Amino acid sequence: MDSVLRVSNGGTFTGSILVPGDKSISHRAIMLGALSDGLTRVTGCLLSEDVRCTINAFRVLGVQVDLNTSTDEVLVHGVGLHGLKNSPESIVVGNSGTSMRLMAGIFSGAGLSISMIGDSSLSSRPMKRICEPLAQMGANVKTSGDGTAPLYIGANNGLKGITYAMPVASAQVKSCILLAGLYADTPTKVIERIPTRDHTETMFETFGVSLVLEAGSITLLPTQKPIACDVVVPADISSAAFFLVGGAIGLDSRISMKGVGVNKTRSGIIRILEMMNAKISLTNVRMRGGEKVADITVASSDLHGVDIPLDCVAAAIDEFPAIFIAAACAKGVTVLRGATELRHKESDRIEVMASGLRTLGVDLETYEDGIKIVGGCIGSGTVDAQGDHRVAMAFSIAALKASGNIDISNAEGISTSFPEFVSIAKSVGLRVE
Ligand code: S3P
Repeated sequence: MDSVLRVSNGGTFTGSILVPGDKSISHRAIMLGALSDGLTRVTGCLLSEDVRCTINAFRVLGVQVDLNTSTDEVLVHGVGLHGLKNSPESIVVGNSGTSMRLMAGIFSGAGLSISMIGDSSLSSRPMKRICEPLAQMGANVKTSGDGTAPLYIGANNGLKGITYAMPVASAQVKSCILLAGLYADTPTKVIERIPTRDHTETMFETFGVSLVLEAGSITLLPTQKPIACDVVVPADISSAAFFLVGGAIGLDSRISMKGVGVNKTRSGIIRILEMMNAKISLTNVRMRGGEKVADITVASSDLHGVDIPLDCVAAAIDEFPAIFIAAACAKGVTVLRGATELRHKESDRIEVMASGLRTLGVDLETYEDGIKIVGGCIGSGTVDAQGDHRVAMAFSIAALKASGNIDISNAEGISTSFPEFVSIAKSVGLRVE
């Protein structure tokens, strides 16, 4: 169903908001809770469609998960590493790459015979990147002919640990291997040249599973079991991203957000926006549930274009749709290179963002691994989010600085990560229907 968001241009973007829980961390808390013996309480859990796919998957496999939607608290009644039941029905994970890739590691380790299906976007995303290391560990995972979902996981004779140097910078691949490694009888080592989000490592420690962390590698020693615990999920910086950019580009704007995760493997957007001259301040920086969080305030800023440093790319990988909007509103040119992975997200985010920006009159050039955006003015028109949640939210925010209204078609994906986006954005002044 095509859902169209109509956003009238202009307005100021001002107020204090509470951004919902981090999607990556919520998935991991539920997964490790399910694999522990006993009760895990997840506070501040994101209850978006993607996370609900993970919850439903474990329910199908015999794990009781209780949701309290008014407090965002989730109780996971873990069944232990070997307690998951097989299911004759396919596990449906919708749009959620994190569910599919991480659970492929768990289901392989648990020796289940099971299939996993996704929506059309997820069914076009690369899955060989997890099947290859899993096969080296002794798993039996098949994809469709072109290396995409559905995934068919067959029984195996037990997993062994591997040493795997990741060919792409991917936290999902790293996490898939480490989760499978919980079931291996020898050490599992992942070598990453470029650091990616380290929430799996942190969540392992929270659940009492220790890792050997060395520069550029993570090693999991065998026969450790996660222990049920209480997890507190910080606010999601990837959702906060739209408000960071909106606050910076909006006229006379000022947005404050409390308890946002600012783990350095995720906060590339703050570094990039600061380089662009955004007025951002972090206060009350503290640790919460093993993750660094801060209260963040952003105010209207005179942004200028930048060459985005290569070492910011992985730490901002989900925030580029929002950053491209900041670049389109900035004075001068912004260049991003080294970001081919953007072509393998919920959409090809280089092409889908470029196409929408061109519709709005923005001058740009694309590369296989990035984009050059000439900042200046944003016009008006209808852009197609192609079902990609972050593209839809990014173009909504663009209306704050546009010369006319922006209609965003195929915007229904927003509920995969941020179901309250429209109501929260409206509450601070976005003129969205
Ligand atoms: C995620 C890792 C990233 C990110 C995705 C969530 C995770 O994907 O883009 O939205 O939770 O591990 P890759 O690992 O494929 O880069």
